[in-house]
Amino acid sequence: MPTILDIQNLQKTYNSGDRHLTVLQGINFSLQAGDVCAIVGPSGSGKTTLLGLCAGLDRASSGSVILNGIKLDNLSEDERAQVRNQYVGFIFQNFQLIPTLTALENVMVPMELRGEKNVQKQALELLGRVGLAERHDHYPTQLSGGEQQRVSLARAFSNKPAILFADEPTGNLDEETGERVEKLLFDLNRESGTTLVLVTHDLELAEKTDRIIRIKGGTLVSDQVTSSVINSDYNE
Ligand SMILES: Nc1ncnc2c1ncn2[C@@H]1O[C@H](COP(=O)(O)OP(=O)(O)OP(=O)(O)O)[C@@H](O)[C@H]1O
Ligand SMILES: [Mg+2]
Repeated sequence: MPTILDIQNLQKTYNSGDRHLTVLQGINFSLQAGDVCAIVGPSGSGKTTLLGLCAGLDRASSGSVILNGIKLDNLSEDERAQVRNQYVGFIFQNFQLIPTLTALENVMVPMELRGEKNVQKQALELLGRVGLAERHDHYPTQLSGGEQQRVSLARAFSNKPAILFADEPTGNLDEETGERVEKLLFDLNRESGTTLVLVTHDLELAEKTDRIIRIKGGTLVSDQVTSSVINSDYNE
């Protein structure tokens, strides 16, 4: 399998005034296309920051992010936006839906940016998969947190990403909806070979992935193949 994500000696420092806060220091790992990986670690350890850098939403202070063979480090904001639209899906911890657009319109945006046809039909199908077809004309403020999260999921799927980053994708959901979302993510991986990178506090979910990367205080403290993979290898 080709390498889809290569992270080399990644460092991120936030500067505000004369204060410098280094939140990631020297992170290294790489993922092959189709991998399913969980990133875990305490609150404030740098998981969301790391995901944002991997997805090209933000720029590192030093080090490299190579996504699908494209080095993101020196690209402009516009160039990174193009790479994201072409290859990346992102489910934000705080959803980040566009408040002036309905659920359906939010899901249609990435497809419209790609110039796709029949986007309304596809977007309705995606909303159906997350159980929200009837709520398609609701605005984000008219939806619960879990419902907004599911719209965000449908939007992340809509540009058929090569790699999907999900920041706490089941964090705001009840058990049943969480399981449905989990199944959707894993189905996407199986059906389309989408690489998945999940940040989660849910260790049961993390154990279902192939690999768990642990972050603490901005450093990578372990990178383990999970027992689910070891078990399935034994079963083959
Ligand atoms: N834009 C910013 N400016 C300054 N500091 C920031 C900024 N964004 C994040 N931080 C700090 O960076 C550190 C890592 O934040 P991050 O959001 O990556 O943590 P996290 O591991 O995702 O935590 P959680 O599990 O609570 O979501 C925190 O101390 C946070 O306060
Ligand atoms: Mg976070």
